[in-house]
Amino acid sequence: MRVTISQIKAMKQKGEKISMLTAYDYTTAKIVDEAGLPMILVGDSLGMVVLGYDSTLPVTLEVMLHHTKAVMRGAKNALVVGDMPFMTYQASIEDAMHNAGRFMQEAGCQAVKLEGGVTVAATVKKMTDAGIPVMGHIGLTPQSINQLGGHKIQGKTPEAAKLLLEDAIALEKAGAFAVVLETVPAPLAALISKKISIPTIGIGAGAGCDGQVQVIHDILGSFTDYVPKHTKRYATIADITAKAVAQYHAEVKSGAFPTDAQSFPLDKAVLAGLE
Ligand code: KIV
Repeated sequence: MRVTISQIKAMKQKGEKISMLTAYDYTTAKIVDEAGLPMILVGDSLGMVVLGYDSTLPVTLEVMLHHTKAVMRGAKNALVVGDMPFMTYQASIEDAMHNAGRFMQEAGCQAVKLEGGVTVAATVKKMTDAGIPVMGHIGLTPQSINQLGGHKIQGKTPEAAKLLLEDAIALEKAGAFAVVLETVPAPLAALISKKISIPTIGIGAGAGCDGQVQVIHDILGSFTDYVPKHTKRYATIADITAKAVAQYHAEVKSGAFPTDAQSFPLDKAVLAGLE
């Protein structure tokens, strides 16, 4: 049985921590799903870690739908959240509804995520009223990177902290089932987590959140352009991959690969008349 939004909300009530990772393809989604994580995010971070852009802004709806479909084929139990990319929900509620609908109908995921608090609350309300579960995302919102002026810690002044709390409350009131807090000082994230009844999912927001989300390429050490401070590396996949690729390259050149073990034999009689 696939995890539901009620189960995710109940985890907060029971004090059970919620772990979430991103995945962008079938194979990775299958591994994350089989490890028992209750939620998978098909994040627009794929723009950087899969497609090599320097921000999430060039990621399109078609790209997100393509990857979300692949993740859905790999994840049989986890609740899959599709990340709505830049300018697919900001221009109008009509646009947002149409595009969120495509995530649900075409990609088949169980929820969508969008960035913003008070400013997107009316959109979130319309979506949740229509039966589309929404995960909010406040704090550092990468789609607004140009407006924010860089990857800065959010909520550092009393005014900014108050606005973030208001954003979280607005999302809860609008019907969001959870909210991502990105790059928010840990004490503020802990306070927001206490003040709202829906789960907070932190990334660079400390241990006081109800759950954590990370970009899988960061924790696996497969994306090496930079290492965000909020990440802990659980593996060094880039090194392992580089070693394996170098060995393959050397063995093809030397003739050590392939051997009979990787080849298919044929009865000599088949070729007799051809030589
Ligand atoms: O796109 C993404 O992966 C995200 C997470 C960092 C929360 O939005």
